[in-house]
Amino acid sequence: MKVLVTGAAGYIGSHAALELLEAGHEVVGFDNLSNSSERAIARIREVAGRAMRFERLDLLDMDGLTRLLAEDFDAVVHFAGLKAVAESVEKPLEYWRNNVSGSANLLAAMKAAGCRRLVFSSSCTVYGEVGKSPIDENHPRSAANPYGNTKLVIEDMCFDLARSEPGWKIVLLRYFNPVGAHESGRIGEDPRGVPNNLMPFIMQTAVGIRDKVRVFGGDYATPDGTGVRDFVHVVDLARAHLAALERIEDFSGAVAVNLGTGRGFSVLELIEAASRASGRRIPFEFAPRRPGDAAAIWADATLAREKLGWSAALDLDRMCADHWRWQRSNPAGYEGDSAAKR
Ligand code: UD1
Repeated sequence: MKVLVTGAAGYIGSHAALELLEAGHEVVGFDNLSNSSERAIARIREVAGRAMRFERLDLLDMDGLTRLLAEDFDAVVHFAGLKAVAESVEKPLEYWRNNVSGSANLLAAMKAAGCRRLVFSSSCTVYGEVGKSPIDENHPRSAANPYGNTKLVIEDMCFDLARSEPGWKIVLLRYFNPVGAHESGRIGEDPRGVPNNLMPFIMQTAVGIRDKVRVFGGDYATPDGTGVRDFVHVVDLARAHLAALERIEDFSGAVAVNLGTGRGFSVLELIEAASRASGRRIPFEFAPRRPGDAAAIWADATLAREKLGWSAALDLDRMCADHWRWQRSNPAGYEGDSAAKR
């Protein structure tokens, strides 16, 4: 297949582009590099040992999108977007413009070009307030912040579009908590500034960039009092995109599918696993709960097995070992000289 990957230099996009190349697909990637490095693209090519075309392009550039989509793509995998919850609260319009208007542009350019196969990077954040886990795809959706709102609205745009005319095949992949890195240690997560998410914070602490991890809440109604999440290896996620593309002809309209392991681990369990993987002591202290956080959430991943033939294969120790290899060999991310930016 000839596949267009938006956000190809980002964390999940880079891993997916690599899996697609390794499976023999032709990949064209673009990214506006607002929160990523072009060095990721060079590393993807290096690990795959294959060519991959890359363009610096923004989803808000409608002419550029129209020009690119005029090439005959079999499918689009759409990762590009802003993704920090707290930032989205401060700058909601940037999130609506980039994520929602950007996705509307992409869908319009696809429609004009007659390309109707899409895999979209959604999130379990669309489940908003959650009670009991596991959560399946029929759980009511609601958004707790502007970032979540944009994911929800883009899903709705896809549902509406798929209903408006036959022929669309859209898979909305709802990721739980992506962690880990490619086993080569050459590509991985490279957050700018202080990480918002738990795993990069733990790994930066292990490597000595941060003093200690702050555990947000030790009094949840969970086995050890800390939050429980469904951590899923980014390479497993990447392979789910490959599975979605390879089975996309079986789909009709827009369908949402959870991607998780179906198992929850606590914040403290993740810190312990990361200590084992790194062989380093990872200091932590308890801090107040972070507003908006759920106590526990993990996926019912049955539909992914049924529809995609996919289930997560890589366990928590492997997630930590691979993330650590990336962190240790790239302590300052892709821009080796960029410690100053942190
Ligand atoms: C967060 C986002 C979610 C997004 C996902 C992407 C929020 C409220 N939700 O999910 O919308 O789709 O990232 O990966 O931000 N924790 C600590 N210390 C830290 C950081 C986190 O204890 O320094 C705890 C949190 O309280 C939570 C768990 O670790 O219990 C996971 O947090 P995080 O990695 O930020 O992911 P989510 O909040 O689940």
